[in-house]
Amino acid sequence: MNWFLERLEPNSIIGMTAGVDFFDGLGVLLLRKGQLITKGIKDLLQKREVYVWRKQENISRPSEMTKAFPKDVYIELVGSLWGIYHEAKLIRPEQIEKTVVLVETILKELKPINVYLGLDVLQLDLENFKQHDYGTFVHSLNVALLATITGMRLGYKEKRLKYLTLGALLHDLGKLRVPKEILNKQGSLTEEEFVIMKQHPLLGVEMLKNTHLLPSVLATVKNHHERWNGKGYPYGLMENNIHFDAQILAVTDVYEALTADRPYRKGLPPYHALEMILSWSGKDFNPIVVQAFRESLVLYPENAIVTLNTREVGVIAAVPLQLPTRPLIRLLFDSNGRFLNKETYIDLMHDLTRFIGHVEFKEVG
Ligand SMILES: [Fe+2]
Repeated sequence: MNWFLERLEPNSIIGMTAGVDFFDGLGVLLLRKGQLITKGIKDLLQKREVYVWRKQENISRPSEMTKAFPKDVYIELVGSLWGIYHEAKLIRPEQIEKTVVLVETILKELKPINVYLGLDVLQLDLENFKQHDYGTFVHSLNVALLATITGMRLGYKEKRLKYLTLGALLHDLGKLRVPKEILNKQGSLTEEEFVIMKQHPLLGVEMLKNTHLLPSVLATVKNHHERWNGKGYPYGLMENNIHFDAQILAVTDVYEALTADRPYRKGLPPYHALEMILSWSGKDFNPIVVQAFRESLVLYPENAIVTLNTREVGVIAAVPLQLPTRPLIRLLFDSNGRFLNKETYIDLMHDLTRFIGHVEFKEVG
């Protein structure tokens, strides 16, 4: 079972009371089922896009087709990436060849089915790599995984996908030339420090000058901090003047940064980070990319066991395609750990006081 938002024709809003719940395009409730539709409300609803939730059988993401990204492969990838670029001043063509091998491993793991990239994978505690620039490698790999699934959702094939993943793995190389005190500073940067930090996309391109990489890969590195509304850096490019791969990187880079734990702060839960990304769609990010990202990210695989902030434990019963941050949960245990015999569902679309704190998902099939 899956859920999707269907747009209503303005003139189909009839009757004295709402027959179903009405939502806006982001899934925010506009009018609750049973509420009176006065003339004023009707006029307002007819002036905006109104959606209702519909149930859909044959979901595009059946649970048996979702698997967790293998942790051993992830650990290996971080290690290899760190080994290739550690303390690199200038990247040699052989290093790119080694990186392409990593790209192929990533594509092989992500290709056949939907992959659950949960925080338990993206934030494995990799003690061996806890060095000054460790964050850059883990971050680059995470962004590469997220960018690849988004590219796949957008219909990227073979070479294009390869270049996207390669660009993502390389995108923050320039940070290796940013002084550690600035890179790892706790708290906000001063104006001068931020000027230095903002050089890292161009420093990255400079480090790659001997590698004969395709211009599209270099553009990904160079443009990944540009923003759809022109408020990014280094050039303040707008909309499609930004290389499309870099537009994907922009979204996945920010999502990763929001969810990542740092030594001085805890990352945001995925649903919160995704909702922030959605709110920036059309401002900082290309809405087409945000939509593909939202649809490709399996936040809560069906049948995953989740623990709520209330300490209740349940299983994911259905995930709305339009708003995957608010699934339907079948409760198994109450907040005191008592098993619930009666079938009880919690719809996070409506219950805004509850949220998912922890997800447990084992590889299926
Ligand atoms: Fe960056």
